[in-house]
Amino acid sequence: MSAAALPPAPPSTLVIFGGTGDLTRRLLVPALANLCGDGLVGNDLTIIAIGSREGDDESLRAGLDEFAPDTDCWRALRGRITYLQGDFTQPDVFQTLKQRLGDGNAAFYLATPAQFFGPIVDALADAGLMDEVEGRFQRVAIEKPFGHDLASAQALNRQILARVAEAQVYRIDHYLGKETVQNIMVARFANPWIEAVWNNRYIDHVQITAAESIDVGTRGSFYDATGAGRDMVPNHLFQLLAMIGMEPPNDLSADAIRGEKAKLLGAVRPPDDAGADGVRGQYEGYRETADVSADSTTETFVALKLHVDSWRWGGVPFYLRTGKALTARDTEVAIVFRQAPLALFRDTDLNNLPPSQLVLQLQPDEGIVMRFMVKQPGPELRAVPVQLDFHYAERFDIKGRTGYETLLYDMLMGDQTLFQRADQIEAGWAAVQPFLDAWGGRPDAIETYARGSDGPAGATALIERDGRAWNPIGA
Ligand code: BG6
Repeated sequence: MSAAALPPAPPSTLVIFGGTGDLTRRLLVPALANLCGDGLVGNDLTIIAIGSREGDDESLRAGLDEFAPDTDCWRALRGRITYLQGDFTQPDVFQTLKQRLGDGNAAFYLATPAQFFGPIVDALADAGLMDEVEGRFQRVAIEKPFGHDLASAQALNRQILARVAEAQVYRIDHYLGKETVQNIMVARFANPWIEAVWNNRYIDHVQITAAESIDVGTRGSFYDATGAGRDMVPNHLFQLLAMIGMEPPNDLSADAIRGEKAKLLGAVRPPDDAGADGVRGQYEGYRETADVSADSTTETFVALKLHVDSWRWGGVPFYLRTGKALTARDTEVAIVFRQAPLALFRDTDLNNLPPSQLVLQLQPDEGIVMRFMVKQPGPELRAVPVQLDFHYAERFDIKGRTGYETLLYDMLMGDQTLFQRADQIEAGWAAVQPFLDAWGGRPDAIETYARGSDGPAGATALIERDGRAWNPIGA
């Protein structure tokens, strides 16, 4: 649907905990200004940013100007953003908030460190701020990381759901705001010829790559306690896995789609040998990063081989990898097809054709690429690889979008499709838990890799021992 066909969000106040942080400045506020430009939020949206720093409304707004678009919408929205300085571990701030909010709709966005998620929800509920009375809505959005393993994710779900209904909870995974991730559903279910080959009869394997060229930078303290596995796999990479692997939902309701995704994640088979099917790496020099322990065994790269035990995917391995300080920024899903059933070209150089691929590219350019072979014109039977490219940026105006527009709009509209339900989160953690356990038991089983490389040798070996190869990163 085009933005013009969508109604504007209802009047509401968005309260951002962590209101002076990077996420708010770089992504949330610019996304709200873009939504205003699309006519999807009006001047009945107000924003309260809560933070612990000294400051007032004007100093907050000045800090937001840097990343906000230079538009009339931003100038109008800016005046409706106020600052509430306070310590959100103390009840006072929730009382002040209650007075400021009155009895309108409210959406609370927790852009804070993870240890505050549970306590803030408790404090909101204690203050009566989660009570949906007289038709008003009270919703809470929770950023990642949602737990650091299965047990802690289950505990956090229990804590939250003891105070608020699942229908009020919007667990964020920003990958779900990316166009290509949402487009996976359209590509699969609006194009019968794609879905017709989307199974183990035609697909040999799937590669999911989220490679970053940047290193850990100034995030040493968070990252060293987290590692690539927890930071990227049960959330972002599994969103891609679920979108690729899920069965067609019965309809487009949030629960039908989320149910299918949870089912797919629940079908990930526990590895026979997590130590062999999960490889960890650390880039050279990581231990010299500020706030990183000098003998850290935290991984900055992981590669996994998974199987999904379902009728559709039986026998199709899914290879996943993600890491920092790699050769290029490249996030993609490659669907690698089987070779033709008959080696018709066996006496020609066509016999060892590279396999056909459909590549869903998320970064650096969102798009879809088809790789296949054609005959080079001429008397000789010679095959050459070619590709068909579709780039979002060439076809649509996507400049300046942050990826949070849809997520924020959907939250204000009460559409939970792009947010994770409790069972999805837990199914994701359950699938990675055997790897976390294996790695925890052998913290020294970690390889070093060169900055600017494709990752550790073990990752190459992981796929090559099955007679397959990774797509080169950034190619
Ligand atoms: C975040 C991780 O959730 O996702 C970061 O904490 C990572 O470590 C980032 O860099 C990647 O997101 P994107 O949109 O750049 O692929």
